[in-house]
Amino acid sequence: MVKVAIMGHGTVGSGVYEVFEMNAEKIARTVGEPVEVKYVLDLRDFSSLPYGHKFVTDFSVIENDPEVTVVAEVMGGVGAAYQFTKRCLEAGKSVCTSNKELVATKGDELLKIAEEHGVNYMFEASVGGGIPIIRPMLQCLAANEFNQICGILNGTTNYILTQMIHNGVTFEDALRQAQVNGYAEKDPTADIEGHDACRKICILSDLAYGDKFDPDTVSCEGITKITLEDVANADKLGCVIKLLGRSVRCEDGTAYAYVAPHLIHKESPLAAVEDVFNAIMVDGNATGEVMFYGKGAGKLATASAVVADMLDSIEHKDNRRRIMWGDGSKKLLRPLDTLRSAWYVRFKGAREDIESILPVESLSEPVEGVFVVQTSKIPTAEMDAAAEKLNAVGKVCAAMRIL
Ligand code: HSE
Repeated sequence: MVKVAIMGHGTVGSGVYEVFEMNAEKIARTVGEPVEVKYVLDLRDFSSLPYGHKFVTDFSVIENDPEVTVVAEVMGGVGAAYQFTKRCLEAGKSVCTSNKELVATKGDELLKIAEEHGVNYMFEASVGGGIPIIRPMLQCLAANEFNQICGILNGTTNYILTQMIHNGVTFEDALRQAQVNGYAEKDPTADIEGHDACRKICILSDLAYGDKFDPDTVSCEGITKITLEDVANADKLGCVIKLLGRSVRCEDGTAYAYVAPHLIHKESPLAAVEDVFNAIMVDGNATGEVMFYGKGAGKLATASAVVADMLDSIEHKDNRRRIMWGDGSKKLLRPLDTLRSAWYVRFKGAREDIESILPVESLSEPVEGVFVVQTSKIPTAEMDAAAEKLNAVGKVCAAMRIL
């Protein structure tokens, strides 16, 4: 009998317990013996649950129990979760997590500690919920250099945008529904301002390029400024609006990385990704484009990935998985100035100003003085300079890259 523990009994934590209960037989077949959840750590009172007797409030109970060899960290945040993860690893216990904030900010350090103590730190659930993406990148695609990673990495914002595009639901109502469904973060600001997607593109870039991409230095824009007018304009241009996390490798080994809403042509496979679903396109230099698709958030989908890592850790306890990236000292993140994109611009002002300032590819007839412009591909710095000039003579109401 293998004994494990779960730290945190929120949406994902309770899902992890449920998956262990629901699939006990299958899990025992997979690892060759039954797996028992010995403890659940949470400060709140869950004594009325059928497994209420398993709850502990003191972390050291888990830390000091040699029977517990694998621990799920599903608390979130970088405070107690960081301290407890570190101490579990130092105590010789593998840790499996869905905590993308912790992996993105401290992953390099925690992976090093895991290596020093001969245990695993695994985080399949930190990107794409139930979608297998970390392991495929580490194993199936290991022979590739990654040219580009581009994905819909946040279920909450994709759910909100889908509701706005198809059902005319307001932003606020759609967000509330995403919270009820258990997709959103505790503080949904992280979803709607793009921080959650930013942590995820950083983790994927860490893996792809081998050095830390710090979420604090990666350009990040969310969906709060998108209006139903932009949604309708995008439709007229044969596009939909999606929040993308993207990283693009340059010849010198540096990479652009950022999160921003984009107009995507409807024929693109990413355009068809709706509701809470995520999709991640990985362009390997040997495979070409490979796409991963599935439920990017939600209790059981995310728990499935945490439990799978726990089973993998049990099976690989004497032969640990080698996962590692640098501490960021290679400074691989390249400023966006030279990244070339076509742009959608919604501008209130005069036609001649647009035509003299922007390299126009198409221009709509004005509606109440507002023009919809598509530009040809220009470097980001050129677009930024043009926006400044346009704002001096009118108002740039919206500007988004077109992919
Ligand atoms: N809040 C996240 C999302 C949960 O909506 O995608 C999964 O990471």
